Amino acid sequence: MESEEEAMRLLKEEDHSKEESKQNEDDVEDKEEDGPALDMIDFLPSSTLPPTPPLPSSLGVIFVLVKWFSFDSKNGKNIPPSPRKLPIIGNFHLLGSSPNRSLQTLSQKHGPIMLLHLGSIPTLVASSSEVAQEIMKTHDLSFCSRPSLTIPNIVLYGSRVIAFSPYGEHWRRLKSIMVLKLLSTTRVKSYQYVIESEIDHMIWVLGERYGTTIDMGATLLSLTIFSVGSYIPWLSWIDQINGLIGRAEKIAKDFDEFLEGVIEEHVNKKKCEDANSSEGEDFVDILLDLQNDETTGITLDRDYLKTLILEAFLGGTETNQTSLQWALSELIKNPRVMRKLQQEVTEVAQGRPKISEDDLEKMPYLKAVLKESLRLHPPVPLLVTRIAMQDVKLMGYDIAAGTQLIINAWAIGRDPVVWEEPYEFRPERFLNSSLDYHGFQFGWHPFGGGRRTCPGIQFSALVMELALANIVYKFDMVLPDGIKNEDLDMTDSFGITMQRKSPLLVSVISRF
Ligand code: HEM
Repeated sequence: MESEEEAMRLLKEEDHSKEESKQNEDDVEDKEEDGPALDMIDFLPSSTLPPTPPLPSSLGVIFVLVKWFSFDSKNGKNIPPSPRKLPIIGNFHLLGSSPNRSLQTLSQKHGPIMLLHLGSIPTLVASSSEVAQEIMKTHDLSFCSRPSLTIPNIVLYGSRVIAFSPYGEHWRRLKSIMVLKLLSTTRVKSYQYVIESEIDHMIWVLGERYGTTIDMGATLLSLTIFSVGSYIPWLSWIDQINGLIGRAEKIAKDFDEFLEGVIEEHVNKKKCEDANSSEGEDFVDILLDLQNDETTGITLDRDYLKTLILEAFLGGTETNQTSLQWALSELIKNPRVMRKLQQEVTEVAQGRPKISEDDLEKMPYLKAVLKESLRLHPPVPLLVTRIAMQDVKLMGYDIAAGTQLIINAWAIGRDPVVWEEPYEFRPERFLNSSLDYHGFQFGWHPFGGGRRTCPGIQFSALVMELALANIVYKFDMVLPDGIKNEDLDMTDSFGITMQRKSPLLVSVISRF
């Protein structure tokens, strides 16, 4: 804590030391777009200004504040370019309702590494694959911690949750439990039974709604790794995390009660079952077993159990649902791709009633469709915010310890330097490509990378591939009210995950 404060103090001293003339140019450009006239005068070098008439006192205060906040000390540091910032809020006003887009636009002006000030917090924004590679590969150790965020601290068991834990022993232990015990290749295979029955259920639900218009997003949300059934409405509360801290206290209490219920249900189920049977085991069952496993190096008390369950809920439901919904949207919008995919799955299925896990390896186009959809619609468009643990030299720039870091995976997925015709949905670009879900791939970062990479990749790949293959194998999808496929609205809405703005309303029609 002390070292973080010290880092912030140093950062404040070193901040703003970018070449003054360049800063002023940028400031003026920004001003032309969106700033009030007074600020423009404040940001111009004083030598270019006519003699200043006396200012009213309130304007004088603003003037002093603006000067203070934009002061650049020249101490030999090479600080990344920054857009003009305002007193108190810094650059917050530039983010707007679609930060991924606003940051992309800003980066086109200021470059793929830029330094924003969100309030008083210096925040580095990476917008090219080259920079992302430097951060998540070359300097991963320096950038692999997380800042302390107020809402997750209240709602998600403080910094116990892996995704928001600072780098250190606690994070390492919990993450290794996730990676090695809960989401390893063997373990993911063992979830096959649960996953397949969830998908069977979803296909059955879709079949029941045959011919009527349904909200595909809501239906997909019923596809979870747990048999949570009636618990599902609980997930809509996640939206409220965007709300006020006061509400967060209440949400934390509700989360806790919900998770207590989940654990109790599983403990009781276990009591009634054969102790050695592992068929149909889910996450919670395995965690309960791990309580007696000394090799984890962690005593899995009730709070740890709840943390890991919650993390699996948050990590595995909305992200998978969002990804599938975008993939289906793209398929509907691009009938050529849909036809090609349906041809592939139909050939592999050879008349069997459903696609199983063993079939997936014979479906390269299915995998390409999902990768292409994740490129254009990464569910977590800005990844999860990181923080620099120490001073770093990043591509020639000096980044001070304590600087927050945002990686704009959404913008990188659309970077014309990396992707030919980046706005086209063309799965073929992933055919015969070495890109698999794992490790670090140039220009494609929907799961992050480095030490902080998502541990759920393998699991999600299986769920998404199996679900998508079965949906398109069984059903054709028609838009309501005679809307043409190519006119499907693809507007997105920024949030915890990036969802469609309007619901995906379709009629499903059985293919046979
Ligand atoms: C399509 C599905 C998913 C997507 C797109 C996704 C995406 C991400 C991203 C972008 C990150 C941040 C990576 C970074 O900071 O570099 C992340 C972290 C994480 N994800 Fe996922 N995720 C998905 C599914 C899952 C699932 C199924 C789980 C668990 C069951 C999961 C658990 C986590 C956890 C625990 C972290 C934090 C890792 C850390 O901070 O060390 N995710 N995910």
